[in-house]
Amino acid sequence: MRFNKLKVKEIIRETPDCVSLEFELPDELSDTYRFKPGQYLTFKHEINGEELRRSYSLCSAPYENKLKVAVKKVEGGRFSSFVTDHLKVGDELELMKPMGRFVSRTEAEDANLLFFAAGSGITPVISIIKDVLHRKPEANVTLVYGNKGFDHIIFREELEGLRNTYLGRFRLFHVLSREVQGEAIFNGRIDLDKCGQFFETGLLNLSTYHEAFVCGPESMIQAVRDYLGANNFDANNIRFELFTSPGEEKKVEKEVTVEASGNESDVVVVLDGVEYNLKLALDGATILDAASEIGADLPFACKGGVCCTCKARVTEGEVKMDVNYSLEQDEIEQGFVLTCQSHPVTDKVVVDFDSI
Ligand SMILES: Cc1cc2nc3c(=O)[nH]c(=O)nc-3n(C[C@H](O)[C@H](O)[C@H](O)COP(=O)(O)OP(=O)(O)OC[C@H]3O[C@@H](n4cnc5c(N)ncnc54)[C@H](O)[C@@H]3O)c2cc1C
Ligand code: FES
Repeated sequence: MRFNKLKVKEIIRETPDCVSLEFELPDELSDTYRFKPGQYLTFKHEINGEELRRSYSLCSAPYENKLKVAVKKVEGGRFSSFVTDHLKVGDELELMKPMGRFVSRTEAEDANLLFFAAGSGITPVISIIKDVLHRKPEANVTLVYGNKGFDHIIFREELEGLRNTYLGRFRLFHVLSREVQGEAIFNGRIDLDKCGQFFETGLLNLSTYHEAFVCGPESMIQAVRDYLGANNFDANNIRFELFTSPGEEKKVEKEVTVEASGNESDVVVVLDGVEYNLKLALDGATILDAASEIGADLPFACKGGVCCTCKARVTEGEVKMDVNYSLEQDEIEQGFVLTCQSHPVTDKVVVDFDSI
């Protein structure tokens, strides 16, 4: 079973438009929900007769032994409004096991990590920060966190608490767009210019960081990546997590060379050892939609190329993705694809969900 029903144990209103949720975790499921800091859970719930799936990042660290996420209400958002306005302690939601690659890969005990977050982008970030400060006594962390105003800072007290607990090891800078703080550098949005000011004024020294993490709106992620890249920070050491599909399409790097000779391809989807066979056109439905249509219970959440829940490996033939906002280059080179974005381009394609 991909989803398990878990009961809401505690709900805390973190800001006027954000709540955190902790779930009861029965002992027999503790292995299933073991997670790496920075990973997310996919939720499934029927709201007003519509089955919705959404991903939410874990904001707890593994040592806290809590399964906890934070949901910020999006204006007009169906799932986030339900959670922030109607969900109660004792209610049940269906959850998939933790997934995601927004995790630290630095092994150094004296790791120096740099984080840029905005709004609800703090959720996976605080999980990684708590974990690294707790596990590695020689590690240091810097967080630049953007919000509208002080009242909207999610985990404000917890962050201050961490700064006091790990004196000198955790540097925290709030950047506010709608409230004025003493120094100009802390006012405004985290864009290319603002990011640059932190380094150019000498507040931060880019060359001292092993790894950088960025989580927030696409424009902020792009600005920080551009700045770090232009200043010789190794792109392999930058991790980013996007919460929502940007408007523009981004083409995947992979070159597609072999064209299908006919109009349709034979597509085989392998899931839990079972093969599903379908005929599919390049310009038709995606592999995820087509296989779901014939009864395959494939994993998915956003269907927008953002979350990576629908990831599988192409073991024969080639596919083309419409967009890809989440797979990294090394995953593409290993044959991984987002099935919610994939269409066959060769006569035969085998897509394997079991070899991820
Ligand atoms: C890997 C991953 C991790 C995530 N982690 C978190 C998390 O920890 N906390 C959290 O609050 N959210 C998180 N999200 C976002 C979350 O999954 C939902 O997309 C979000 O809650 C909106 O869902 P909804 O049903 O309320 O909105 P919908 O009903 O789907 O959308 C309503 C409207 O809001 C727009 N919209 C959708 N999402 C956003 C957004 N994030 N910002 C601005 N506008 C938006 C849509 O374009 C649409 O116009 C994460 C997403 C991903 C992919
Ligand atoms: S379902 Fe989210 S990337 Fe495919």
